[in-house]
Amino acid sequence: MDNRPIGVYDSGFGGLSVLKELRNKLPNEDYVYFGDTKRIPYGSKDKETIQLFSKQITNFLIEKNVKMIILACNTVTANAMEYLQANFNIPIIGIIESGVKSALSSTNNKIIAVLGTEATINSEVYTKNLKKENNQIEVLPVACPKFVPLVEKGENSKLEIEEAAREYFKEISNRDFDTVILACTHYPHIANEIKKVFGENKIYINPAIKLVDSVKKYLKNNKLENNNKNLGKIDFYTSGEINSFKENGSIYFGEEIKDIKNKTF
Ligand code: DGL
Repeated sequence: MDNRPIGVYDSGFGGLSVLKELRNKLPNEDYVYFGDTKRIPYGSKDKETIQLFSKQITNFLIEKNVKMIILACNTVTANAMEYLQANFNIPIIGIIESGVKSALSSTNNKIIAVLGTEATINSEVYTKNLKKENNQIEVLPVACPKFVPLVEKGENSKLEIEEAAREYFKEISNRDFDTVILACTHYPHIANEIKKVFGENKIYINPAIKLVDSVKKYLKNNKLENNNKNLGKIDFYTSGEINSFKENGSIYFGEEIKDIKNKTF
């Protein structure tokens, strides 16, 4: 038993799609959420910068006495997870392995599209890991740099999101993929717009679903579960604008975010 909170980290609102799943399946846990909205997007930054930012935030979450850290960001997982695991003595779980496993167990025709940020796609982590598990898999990676800024702008960007989706879909529209990995935690927030353009008949993978099952198992196996019987509390932190986080974040999270604190580096 360990009643300390779980740290959840993303560059912005994306991790709220992960926190939502955590809250559903592990409601009695406490969480500390950090959204680095001032420095978003991470997807256009280089590996060294992403590692520096994630090191600062890992230190901050450790100061907040978290028992483990969930990298609720594909870009951080792809570019900094190994670095963080090598430099910090705290359990750190990334999101990519869950996306890879879910896609492998879903695809029938073995052609998988991976939508992600430039930094995730350029790292080739999804392609390498999917092929390592099954070298017959064909991977269609698509960098979608316009999506994250549009999600951060808020709910009324739907038309611009669809327009961007049409541009990205063109890259693979002649290919018969049956599975699409939403390889950026911002994308589940705009899954409807993506589906409309990429096709309602595909299988869409939100890696957070499997990730939460792994977290649950990890807590149980390591006796780190919170034994509180009530709904846990969440402390929200942003490096950016508090009001916009409250307003847009509440919509994406599906629960009102009342209290959020500012922390910059
Ligand atoms: N949610 C992040 C991800 O999963 C977005 C990264 C960004 O800031 O560009 O990759």
